[in-house]
Amino acid sequence: MQAPITYSASPSGEKFPLPQKEEYATEFLNISKLAENARKEGKEVVVVMGVGFVGAVMAAIIADTVDSQGKPSKFVIGCQRPSTRSYWKIPMLNRGESPVKAEDPEVDRIIARCVNQKQTLIATFNSDCLELADVVVVDVQCDFSKRELGNMKTGEADMAALEATLKTIGQKIQPHCLTLIETTVAPGTTEFVAWPILKKAFAKRKITSVPLLAHSFERVMPGREYVSSIRDFWRVCAGCDNEARKRVEKFLREVLNTKDFPLTVMDRPIESETTKIVENSYRATILAYLNEWSIFAERNGVDLLKVIKAIKMRPTHSNIIFPGPGIGGYCLPKDGGLGYWAYRHILGFDDGDDVFRITPTAIDINDTRALHVASLTRDALRNMARYIAGADVLLCGASYRQDVGDTRYSGSELIVRKLTEMGAEVHIHDPYVEHWYELESQDEYPAPGHSWQRFFHNQDHLADTKVLKDLPEALNGIEALILAVPHTEYKNLKPDDVVKWAGQPLAVIDCFGLLSDEDIRRYFELGCEVKALGRGHIQRIKKEVRRAAPKN
Ligand SMILES: NC(=O)c1ccc[n+]([C@@H]2O[C@H](COP(=O)([O-])OP(=O)(O)OC[C@H]3O[C@@H](n4cnc5c(N)ncnc54)[C@H](O)[C@@H]3O)[C@@H](O)[C@H]2O)c1
Repeated sequence: MQAPITYSASPSGEKFPLPQKEEYATEFLNISKLAENARKEGKEVVVVMGVGFVGAVMAAIIADTVDSQGKPSKFVIGCQRPSTRSYWKIPMLNRGESPVKAEDPEVDRIIARCVNQKQTLIATFNSDCLELADVVVVDVQCDFSKRELGNMKTGEADMAALEATLKTIGQKIQPHCLTLIETTVAPGTTEFVAWPILKKAFAKRKITSVPLLAHSFERVMPGREYVSSIRDFWRVCAGCDNEARKRVEKFLREVLNTKDFPLTVMDRPIESETTKIVENSYRATILAYLNEWSIFAERNGVDLLKVIKAIKMRPTHSNIIFPGPGIGGYCLPKDGGLGYWAYRHILGFDDGDDVFRITPTAIDINDTRALHVASLTRDALRNMARYIAGADVLLCGASYRQDVGDTRYSGSELIVRKLTEMGAEVHIHDPYVEHWYELESQDEYPAPGHSWQRFFHNQDHLADTKVLKDLPEALNGIEALILAVPHTEYKNLKPDDVVKWAGQPLAVIDCFGLLSDEDIRRYFELGCEVKALGRGHIQRIKKEVRRAAPKN
């Protein structure tokens, strides 16, 4: 009897049947032929494990590589688990379509070019393709699961996908193949977890040579420069031994623009791994540190936006940034956690709590900062003699940063969840986000049991969330407007239009320093209430407007 067909659905709802057992052999045969032809043409065969946000684009960048004569020099096989969650990425890639939605038009172009014209990129579900590889690039996820909201220390690294991938690699690669881990990992993983897995597998296969293993992390940045942020950006790498180091250096110099963006080669993978964790913890820390000054500013008539602008004039302090309602993105909320966890669980130290006092606190502050926005919304409504329970609130901006559609761990999600718990009716607008999967698919996304819904009550109906696109229409009847992300569309909003579209004066909550002083003044003149993260001078403007208003 044939097994029932199971489907994997793409985000747009297109359904792809999962491959059946008997399809594996034919698939491998076809790929072997393509790889053989490619090798005859002098191309190196590269397998990219995991064609997610990073892997799909990295695979295309490698497939786009040319030699000194301008001839394509790599043949790339993107390999992805045929799970119901992820299988759809394979048939999509094989049609020349990007499985990643990006604001950068080059993502679609480079994937279409490599699949359809150059024919240097294909995707498969059959991990036997590893047998064909000269180089394997690992781009599967390594998560850090937090058990409590605002307590990173009780979380743990989830290396299951990475370890499973490495086991498969060890079972299948040829002895000369270089394995390059690009995944952001807990420091020590490459040498003390991954290398032993590969060595054990080699020993089992009676291979006497040492597996060639290296690490080089990604610094990809969602947005309009997505491809460039991988290809034309400074990289760091290290190999487990001299041979691996030479191989990884050669490979990265071939596929990336290391001429304009010099490559840093480090002595050991733990140094490359630590670089990634430290640079992201540094960014998380300067944002968290400003949280206390943001509250100070709110309570003492200070506009933090102007303070930051004034500080930025000093070239030595030019990278100070205004802290929005949380940190967001896939990396910054988790990477420090990987470091803290590694110190004990990979490297064997018991005094993590004495040593790590800043990084965990920073992550905890960033993870909970958005809750303050819900309090500000409640207070603003109360000042207008309205109540949060039952209030119609419009949240503008679901993504974690301006002018991108990436919603992973956005502060906005926490704002929605907290307000929902408080009984508000929250509506969502975002010009860049089609579906907010963290809400719409909250039982499965980002993974079963991992949704932030677990930290809040009364969340079930958020699965019916629709992201609205027409701002004037979305504002109709709204009592509180939260400007959560500084998307361009929100920066130019005129208070008179907003009040007209809402049909009434409303509470406006500015989370990212979007409102000018003139906007704030005008909102008050129109009978609105305004509150903002870090902008204590609003009270002064409010008093001035009240004083100037004619008494009747
Ligand atoms: N996305 C970013 O903005 C970003 C930036 C810098 C670094 N990184 C790092 O890059 C790494 C990958 O992140 P991502 O955003 O691409 O994750 P992702 O979840 O989008 O992609 C990972 C892919 O690997 C697949 N996978 C899991 N197990 C597999 C297996 N055993 N065999 C084959 N495929 C498997 C998953 O199905 C998924 O498609 C992470 O370590 C992340 O921290 C991400």
